[in-house]
Amino acid sequence: MNTYQLLDSGNRQKLEQVGPYKIIRPAPQAIWEPFNPSLWNDIDSEFVKEKGEKGSWKPRKNPEGVKRKKLGTGLPENWFVDSPSGLQFKVEPNDYGNIGIFPEHWIYSNELNNLLPKKSKVLNVFTYTGSNCLDLVKSGHLVTVVDSAKTAISGYTFNLGLNKLSRQGQRLVLEDAIKFLDREIRRESKYDCVMIDAPSYGRGTKKEVFDIDESLIKLFQNAKRLAKKDGIVIFTLHSPRYTQAALKQSLEQIFEGKNINIQELMLEAESKSYLTSGTFVQIQ
Ligand SMILES: C[S@@+](CC[C@H](N)C(=O)[O-])C[C@H]1O[C@@H](n2cnc3c(N)ncnc32)[C@H](O)[C@@H]1O
Repeated sequence: MNTYQLLDSGNRQKLEQVGPYKIIRPAPQAIWEPFNPSLWNDIDSEFVKEKGEKGSWKPRKNPEGVKRKKLGTGLPENWFVDSPSGLQFKVEPNDYGNIGIFPEHWIYSNELNNLLPKKSKVLNVFTYTGSNCLDLVKSGHLVTVVDSAKTAISGYTFNLGLNKLSRQGQRLVLEDAIKFLDREIRRESKYDCVMIDAPSYGRGTKKEVFDIDESLIKLFQNAKRLAKKDGIVIFTLHSPRYTQAALKQSLEQIFEGKNINIQELMLEAESKSYLTSGTFVQIQ
């Protein structure tokens, strides 16, 4: 078993099967009771927040027989999973509870791929390790990725290699997102697709502060400027503050006359329940 599956959620946690490992992570949006309590056993590791967003992985069962490099977490340092489209991704749990993949992007990636004309020029800002764009690279699109973390760009490069995807025509940019977007606008660059998966908070390469509350409208405006007339703009947001109605009203003002499709990114669990994992916006 080398795939990802959300198993269940509840008590503000989510239970996930990530390849051979069963893990628990915080999920503040899961305000209900678990839907299938019988699934919550035989767990390898649980991520527990300790200081702000930082925390540690606690082994939940005797990890005997599990090859572990990171002693004490109940998990190996890294391993691999296959996405639904058959791409391989490296899984690498970190001290913030991230694991190297964001499976909610796999909900829409196939549909987006089919919408884009061949060899589309795609800009993907806040790329991390590329859960939301490796499918596009595989289909031959020319993808520019932007992230301020060396670990993100090296993880992305690793995933390209893992899937034998050529770097030809791809651009990997290690830079502050806001600065890069401003420069691209000055250069009058245009893209068939602009994808922005904004975190709530982040840091640029020179420690510039990124705060979604300050930058969201500017991101919308810059995405509009960088997209071709008939281009597609995709935003994925993870801040619960921005309700669908608020986003719609603001986006209708900025992208006047365009089709704006706003949906929740819902991961279906094995327990047949759903867990919302952010908001998906498609503008065309
Ligand atoms: C939620 S992750 C993006 C997930 C990714 N799109 C995916 O599909 O897996 C947020 C990313 O934003 C990056 N980031 C945070 N602040 C940034 C900034 N000011 N400029 C560029 N990247 C930034 C982080 O390094 C991190 O990789």
